[in-house]
Amino acid sequence: MVEPVIIRLRDDGPLVIHGPVRVIDAEGREFTLPTEKPLLALCRCGQSAHKPFCDGAHKTCGFQARERVALSE
Ligand code: FES
Repeated sequence: MVEPVIIRLRDDGPLVIHGPVRVIDAEGREFTLPTEKPLLALCRCGQSAHKPFCDGAHKTCGFQARERVALSE
């Protein structure tokens, strides 16, 4: 059984993807991943100079995002 890729939402930061993935642009071209690690951070603040990857710019731009799963009662 293949383990699913996990995407973690970092508070006020990127989407961190754990697992082997490929990142493809709108024209079907594949990005060279910035690291050999099986971990990748995708920008969701819109301020990275290296989109679609996170470069840490979220730390200084005031980006806020703290989504939580709604708990059922
Ligand atoms: S989320 Fe890190 S630079 Fe945008």
